[in-house]
Amino acid sequence: MSNHIFITNKIKSFNKNIKVSSDKSISIRSILLSSQAVGTSKISNLLESDDVLNTLKAIKSLGINYKKINKRYYIKGFGLNGFDIKKNTTINAGNSGTLARLILGLLVKSKFKIKLIGDKSLSKRDFSRVIKPLRLFGVNIKSNKNCLPIEILGTKFLRPITYVENIGSAQVKSCIILSSLNTPGTTIINSKKSRNHTELMLQSLDYPIKVIKGKKFERITIEGLKQFKAFNYDIPGDISSAAFFIVLTLLSKKSQMVIRSVNINPSRIGLIIILNKMGAKIKFKNKKKYNGENIADIYIKSTKKLMAVNCPPKLNSSAIDEFLIIFLAAAKAKGISKFKNLGEMNKKESKRLDLAVKFLKLIGIRVERNQDNINIYGNPSLTLKGNYEVKNFLKDHRIFFLSCIAALSLGGRWKIYDKDSIKSSFPNFIKMLKQLGAKINWKKEKI
Ligand code: S3P
Repeated sequence: MSNHIFITNKIKSFNKNIKVSSDKSISIRSILLSSQAVGTSKISNLLESDDVLNTLKAIKSLGINYKKINKRYYIKGFGLNGFDIKKNTTINAGNSGTLARLILGLLVKSKFKIKLIGDKSLSKRDFSRVIKPLRLFGVNIKSNKNCLPIEILGTKFLRPITYVENIGSAQVKSCIILSSLNTPGTTIINSKKSRNHTELMLQSLDYPIKVIKGKKFERITIEGLKQFKAFNYDIPGDISSAAFFIVLTLLSKKSQMVIRSVNINPSRIGLIIILNKMGAKIKFKNKKKYNGENIADIYIKSTKKLMAVNCPPKLNSSAIDEFLIIFLAAAKAKGISKFKNLGEMNKKESKRLDLAVKFLKLIGIRVERNQDNINIYGNPSLTLKGNYEVKNFLKDHRIFFLSCIAALSLGGRWKIYDKDSIKSSFPNFIKMLKQLGAKINWKKEKI
């Protein structure tokens, strides 16, 4: 089957109760921490996407076995430093920055060199952000000018570090936390706020990790070399996947949706805060706590009047993967929306800020860009009639999702390439859109 799709019709109004794919960040972390636990951990609702399956393959190549029985994954760990590392091991992280950066933290004691590789997109991404702290721990690392392939060789003489993480990157913070587990002594991270799933998961396992919250920064203190027991984890829905269905509902006429059991960790809900500032009235119901995480059902209704937003940069980290779709909402809002300091978007699976500007121009929206700041001139009566083609986006799943939602909510005749990109985070994406009534074809419809 071809690897592009055609969308030539807007979606009709819908009223649906759905579940989106499981959280990718938590899925990857649950596997990595299971690999360090003593005994067999049981993970339910694991996201079965390429990024997560590559995480399973990675721990398997390090001597950790797992099996799947009745939709549940059983992962048998042998405690900290329990990997059985063979000579000439290569780990292929595929498209996943999270896997690549986090697993390096678990290799700090490796007695053999391990090679880390990835796909074309991952091979363009910067690893200096993790190489720097890993070297401070005493680890030997070679890279291709701070990019993949990387070779890492652990050390017996690990020393704890005190580190200032000022990018606001959860991947960097988590890499350091995972390194500290196998390091004697106390590691301290003064970290700009970012998603905190690693900390919450370790705290729920009674691991000695302390977090002192400040206004912008947090001080995280971790004691090394404390074993922890295997655990059970039921992975909630991913707000980053829900995001596309939320905006589709907002922009579609007379529609409503409930998305059940989504992780609404405060460090992840920038999207909801920003859309509600724009007048969306999205609600959380049936809130509950699970292993330190907040879970809820999300209620969304179509909104006729979206207003422009002046987005406070303090929300950037909590919406970092959602800005693409937030920009689409801004394109339909009344007034000029302003976003600042979004340079990190260009460090993702593709240069998302650059591509977002190109995309908005493609759909006829005026955008002003000044370095990492953009102003979007919204047009509430925007509907599309022309032909639109989206390709050459380094198979970035979120650019694919954005294009589909734009096509279904604004109209026009769209050809969107690299459908397989959905496998990174949301393999059921197209199937679920079809269940809502979307018409998505592999062949061009004759008119
Ligand atoms: C992730 C952190 C974010 C995010 C990525 C997943 C994680 O990256 O963009 O999709 O699971 O830790 P950064 O930590 O680099 O901002």
